[in-house]
Amino acid sequence: MSTQYDIVIFGATSFVGQILCQYMVAQYPEGEIVWAAAGRSQSKLNSVVKSLKQNIPTIIADSDDEMLLRYMAEQSKVIISTVGPYALYGSSLVKVCAESGTDYVDLTGEPQWIRKMINLHEATAKASGARIVHCCGFDSIPLDLGNFYLQQQAQKVYCAPCTTVKMAVYQMKGAGSGGTFASGINMFKEASTDAELTKGLKDPYFLCSKEHGFSAVQRDVQTAVYDEDFDAWVAPFVMAVINTKIVHRSNELNGKAFGENFKYDEVIRIGKGFGSHITASAIGLGMRIFPLAITLPPSGYLIEKILTKPGEGPSVKQQNSGFFDLRFIGKTDAGQRLTVKVTGDKDPGYGSTAKMLVQAGLCLAQDISKAEKAGGFWTTATVMGEPLIKRLTERAGLTFTLLD
Ligand SMILES: NC(=O)c1ccc[n+]([C@@H]2O[C@H](COP(=O)([O-])OP(=O)(O)OC[C@H]3O[C@@H](n4cnc5c(N)ncnc54)[C@H](OP(=O)(O)O)[C@@H]3O)[C@@H](O)[C@H]2O)c1
Repeated sequence: MSTQYDIVIFGATSFVGQILCQYMVAQYPEGEIVWAAAGRSQSKLNSVVKSLKQNIPTIIADSDDEMLLRYMAEQSKVIISTVGPYALYGSSLVKVCAESGTDYVDLTGEPQWIRKMINLHEATAKASGARIVHCCGFDSIPLDLGNFYLQQQAQKVYCAPCTTVKMAVYQMKGAGSGGTFASGINMFKEASTDAELTKGLKDPYFLCSKEHGFSAVQRDVQTAVYDEDFDAWVAPFVMAVINTKIVHRSNELNGKAFGENFKYDEVIRIGKGFGSHITASAIGLGMRIFPLAITLPPSGYLIEKILTKPGEGPSVKQQNSGFFDLRFIGKTDAGQRLTVKVTGDKDPGYGSTAKMLVQAGLCLAQDISKAEKAGGFWTTATVMGEPLIKRLTERAGLTFTLLD
């Protein structure tokens, strides 16, 4: 397939899409990467491109218009989409990319929608050669690749996989955007009227194949727990609902390389004292109440009014002062232990996410040939792995370090 662009950023006018475009011009001199900015409004695209001070071509496409989406997809090696909530606006684009053999990356964290896309389009993507990779932002790149890196180190040091891995957020500073809140709210609303989906969201193997055969019961922290490995009170981590599913899918796509009984879970490390116990309990309680509160009319209305609106998000100052520090503790079947640290130098949801998404798209366009990795629904660890870690450490401010 001969294409005009390496990447097209669809949703260039979104809050995160604009950060992506600014990162592209800051990182690559004009002409080094052949790319275009796409969206549904020519006037909004024009004002984004004007602010970039580079001559970036634009493409008009609406997420409801398959003909325009196909025209856009056929012009590019990779489509990078920030048009979300994806469950509301993303389905036609995945269909079109799967049919046209165009590679695709996005920022969804919506497991119900990913499941639906895999069911509908996996066979088509395998036939056309399209590599579809969801979750290329803070959820789930640092987690999927953090585990991948830990497993690589375990093979080097112990010649065995870590069959139990715990991840704890040690530190994190950042804020949410309207688009992210809208995606989360939509997911809880869908689940409130769909018992199958509610069950699916609790299933760590929800994104594995029907024939996965995994049965290991996973730790599922819902309230304050004292964790001996992290030597502190820990609380549930909101992103675990998507990240754990992605990591288990990576295990299956990797031929169960981390083990038939691989266990993986995620928490936030709060601290040691009584105050930390109370904080961890409060986080657990809040996370149990929120999905219910958002689906009930009076509280749901109030919450939606208070939360940031679509198109809004953290200021540049907040993005630059943000960061994240994640720790992975892995154990082999023989009880040998490794700790890995993954950090990012900007706020996780926007500053860092934008850099990760761009590098994931470029990695598919430039580093991973179709002969090397065939079409299908992949995860970042299984289709990009080491080349993406290299890009993220060289160009996106992430670090991956073995601590012991
Ligand atoms: N995984 C992560 O770590 C992570 C981090 C950040 C964001 N996200 C996700 O990324 C997505 C974007 O977030 P955001 O805060 O940047 O959202 P946002 O500012 O609300 O932007 C939404 C975008 O969708 C576009 N859009 C809406 N309907 C469309 C249609 N029919 N056709 C074409 N475009 C359409 C909007 O275009 P207009 O500008 O023309 O209105 C806008 O560009 C959300 O789904 C969010 O959950 C994920």
